[in-house]
Amino acid sequence: MKNLSYLLFGLCLIDKSNLDFSLFTFHFSLKTSSLFTLFPYLCTNFQHKDMKEIVLSGIRPTGNLHLGNYYGAVQNFVKMQEDYNCYYFIADWHSLTTHPKPEDIQQSARTILAEYLACGIDPEKSTIYIQSDVPETIELYLYLNMNCYLGELERVTTFKEKARKQPNNVNAGLLTYPTLMAADILQHRAAKVPVGKDQEQNMEMARKCARRFNNIYGVEFFPEPQNFYFGDHAIKIPGLDGSGKMGKSEGNCIYLYEDAKSIEKKVKRAVTDSGPTEPNQEKPEVIQNLFTLMEIASSKETYDYFNEKWNDMSIRYGDMKKQLAEDIVKTLTPIRERILEYKSNQELLDKVAKMGAEKARESSAATLREVRKIIGFKVY
Ligand code: ADP
Ligand code: TRP
Repeated sequence: MKNLSYLLFGLCLIDKSNLDFSLFTFHFSLKTSSLFTLFPYLCTNFQHKDMKEIVLSGIRPTGNLHLGNYYGAVQNFVKMQEDYNCYYFIADWHSLTTHPKPEDIQQSARTILAEYLACGIDPEKSTIYIQSDVPETIELYLYLNMNCYLGELERVTTFKEKARKQPNNVNAGLLTYPTLMAADILQHRAAKVPVGKDQEQNMEMARKCARRFNNIYGVEFFPEPQNFYFGDHAIKIPGLDGSGKMGKSEGNCIYLYEDAKSIEKKVKRAVTDSGPTEPNQEKPEVIQNLFTLMEIASSKETYDYFNEKWNDMSIRYGDMKKQLAEDIVKTLTPIRERILEYKSNQELLDKVAKMGAEKARESSAATLREVRKIIGFKVY
């Protein structure tokens, strides 16, 4: 009984969010036995106090990671793991829209897993998991689909683009891609989502899903997830073929696993023009692309040096490309070495995936229990 009154007293103190002080008091006023009783509660509240914001992001296992993925997404994943509670996953269900072969499914996910680790995502700091290992996602996907409308899904640019690219396979999974993405995010009640610029419309749908669910059921349950990027705008890594973005399906990528020779060759082949015709001239797109890449991959001094050379018309594209290739190789060489190491260690990859799946399922199941309650279903 005495223990119980200590507990109640403790809860009052904790609720007044004076946790440090209350713990201090407990330490000196409670018998050891009652401290044991309270231990689990105190632990959860301790976590609560320093609770970090939740971050989530994922990439489809549709090929190897490239420089666009790295600078647009994965580099931010790595930076964020220090200050946030991060979930990074491999979106293998999302890749089903293009009907991959069954024998490739698991290996493709393992490839991205090895590349995530090689880039510096740390399974001790972040939860790294494979989407299809967390079946709770699908239940939320179903609920969210009930609140999304055909018209708005059809208007999503990525849907329109993909429908154009694969006119004989405009499946319902393609249409509801943004709701599956919303389920990925909302199942962990993530607040921040580091993704590249091309995902902005999908993110808008995720926010709509959160808002609608909250409005329909009169709750404040899901936070509205925000796109996250360091700096003041999302970056877009251009391709080296003159226009547009670097992307797997554009066939213009520098992959993280590539060696120096192959990188040098690709950068050397980058499209350029015949050079500036007057000082301080605005850069045409092909040249701007080269500078954009240099701004991200090289040092500020290097960028400024070549920018000045452009402005005073003394630029030699050959020199610029050589320097750019060198700087990319410097970044990618250690990553490439680690990719090779991780890829040859299937046991480790399996262990990381298992550990991540357990942590992700725990978080997801907790959300789903609440969601079921809110919607009116039985809770198991
Ligand atoms: P791809 O376009 O090559 O198929 P994904 O669509 O799988 O790449 O993208 C995975 C992540 O990498 C997303 O967050 C996306 O925004 C980011 N990303 C992909 N390409 C680029 C790029 N060229 N510049 C910036 N970010 C990119
Ligand atoms: N749609 C993202 C892409 O094509 C991948 C993805 C799936 C994702 N679910 C997500 C990204 C949730 C962030 C959050 O790159």
